[in-house]
Amino acid sequence: MPVDKTIIIPIKLRDIPALHRMFVSAVRSHFAYFPAIEQDQVIRNHRPLKLLLAAIHPRRIILTAHHGGELVGYAIGSVPKNGKGQLFWLFVDPSRRGRNTGLTLLSRMLRMQSQLGATEVSLATHDHRRYYERQGFVWCDAYPVDGVRMDIMTFKTGQV
Ligand SMILES: CC(C)(COP(=O)(O)OP(=O)(O)OC[C@H]1O[C@@H](n2cnc3c(N)ncnc32)[C@H](O)[C@@H]1OP(=O)(O)O)[C@@H](O)C(=O)NCCC(=O)NCCS
Repeated sequence: MPVDKTIIIPIKLRDIPALHRMFVSAVRSHFAYFPAIEQDQVIRNHRPLKLLLAAIHPRRIILTAHHGGELVGYAIGSVPKNGKGQLFWLFVDPSRRGRNTGLTLLSRMLRMQSQLGATEVSLATHDHRRYYERQGFVWCDAYPVDGVRMDIMTFKTGQV
């Protein structure tokens, strides 16, 4: 019997509606520490047309994780021309956590960012500092965003 593996691939345009649904659900649940008005803004900034534009942008990366034909996670990042990459979002469906999907999305994202010329990749996280430290990110700073403490962390891509 074939093993039903999780696969990680750059987003296909047909998956944008599913990504959008998962993104909205993630913002409303797992990123609910942001005030509702900010959640609304984030969701507006990631409506399907915006996700489509990001998917075809040469300096944006959207990776999706699939299991059994279903979308189960995503990572969204960028590599501006200055080489300072960013990881904006990393999410795995709660039912599929703890199976290395997050780590695989993250390591694939870092490798692709490095290939696109990123010398470093930064992110902001409220409650996953330890998670990213385990993957080689180093804490740089912390500041409040909309009253929520965010840790700023950086990864040097020479490590990939
Ligand atoms: C963070 C997230 C993407 C990890 O996905 P995942 O597929 O479960 O990750 P992995 O299987 O690769 O790693 C799981 C490991 O990370 C650990 N972990 C999960 N959340 C953690 C946290 N906040 N701090 C430290 N470790 C954490 C787990 O305990 C597990 O450890 P183990 O390997 O020793 O058992 C997922 O929990 C998620 O989507 N969370 C909600 C969204 C979110 O907060 N994203 C990051 C915000 S910047």
